[in-house]
Amino acid sequence: MEQYIMKGGAPLSGEVTIAGAKNAALGILAGAVMTNETVIIENVPKVQDVEYLLDAIADIGAVVERKEGNKVLINASTIRTTQVDNDYIQKLRGGYYMVGALLGKYHHAEVDMPGGCNIGSRPIDQHLKGFRAIGADVRIKGGMILAHASRLVGTHIYMDVVSVGATINIMLAASLAEGKTIIENAAKEPHVVDVANMLNCMGANIKGAGTDVIRIKGVPELHGCEYSIIPDQIEAGTFMMAAAATRGDVVLKNVIPKHLESISSKLREIGCEVVEEDDAVRVIGSNHMSATHIKTLPYPGFPTDMQSQMAVVLALADGRSTITESIFENRFQYVDELVRMGADIKVEGNVAMIEGVNMLSGARVVATDLRAGAAVVIAGLAAEGFTTVEEVAYIERGYESFVEKLRELGAEIERVSSEDEVQKFKYKVG
Ligand code: EPZ
Repeated sequence: MEQYIMKGGAPLSGEVTIAGAKNAALGILAGAVMTNETVIIENVPKVQDVEYLLDAIADIGAVVERKEGNKVLINASTIRTTQVDNDYIQKLRGGYYMVGALLGKYHHAEVDMPGGCNIGSRPIDQHLKGFRAIGADVRIKGGMILAHASRLVGTHIYMDVVSVGATINIMLAASLAEGKTIIENAAKEPHVVDVANMLNCMGANIKGAGTDVIRIKGVPELHGCEYSIIPDQIEAGTFMMAAAATRGDVVLKNVIPKHLESISSKLREIGCEVVEEDDAVRVIGSNHMSATHIKTLPYPGFPTDMQSQMAVVLALADGRSTITESIFENRFQYVDELVRMGADIKVEGNVAMIEGVNMLSGARVVATDLRAGAAVVIAGLAAEGFTTVEEVAYIERGYESFVEKLRELGAEIERVSSEDEVQKFKYKVG
């Protein structure tokens, strides 16, 4: 079974280049099927969730070519079915963007219900509400989302909850609807803006992305384009936390510092140094970090995708911190793993109470979901002794070359697939 083995205790130092944003890539690659012309996307992260989506797009007949570097070419003129029901699509959350994209272009979509990390109940009612509002008949049948429309007509949609997925999905479908769609209480995350920018590059008319009111004037058709995906805010944040937890000194290249503000300001508040440049951020850890209080919120608030990694840092800070999770109801599964490593954390409802300890100690732990997996790796790198992390497939869904990038920063970490390799690693690093 694939695992990561690491020996912790060494501060990370050096430079790391951040990949394209996974959650933007999923919306953008789905959007690329909305034209029959060729679309070239750059800075596509090489992560498993993106591969699943590309496989699903190829499976319905589109041409999908991985070019050198992180470039992907898609030509959807050869799509032969609007039914997306393979093993890949069931595994990922972002597969639901195929509903918005296919419904917009073909007025018909049949897509398996989304999978993804088990972090809460994750309803999709706001996606369905949006599709229905613009004229689609939408049903769930046999584990699939079935959406059909004779015409799609723009309208006013008020989102009852701020949802990244629903905002992107409605933007996709409404781009090719007749007339104007207004999404109120829209999500403002950088990846929502990135998908809107890419659709505009294909000829859509979307204004206001990044604010809570998005206005989409439908166009009759979209055309090909070349587009480069923004850097991954959460991958960047994860390396920032790894630098802080190991008391290291790491420069992150290819980032947009503005997207990291909530993370940078919390790190500064607890005593780390964060230096921003145009497209880089340097994090210098501190031996005296202090406690703080975090509440996860939609952008520009502190991201829910960063709370597990922040918990590791706070587990090593002086005093009592709290983390309140306000987006997903089941996102503290990593706490048991950190407790196995000596952290003092208790969860009550949606609040984790963290009493800082001087040191964590290595243990055998499990990645319970993507971000939780990143958190236990950070804990292992900060801990004394050896840590093994199981279920690393979760981590590889969303982090490109995670182990390699950490090794370049001086981490003693390896991906292994047998107990024999674990023993060899231990022998090698001593
Ligand atoms: C996206 O999930 C991301 N996934 C998540 O990333 C991220 O945690 C989340 O946004 C929040 O930023 C992808 O982009 C593929 P939401 P999504 O719709 O779209 C409720 C990661 O680790 N809601 O913004 O599923 C929902 O239950 C992951 O990369 C409804 O009630 O999140 C939640 O409480 C995991 N009805 C809140 O809204 C709906 O129809 C926000 O969810 C939709 C959502």
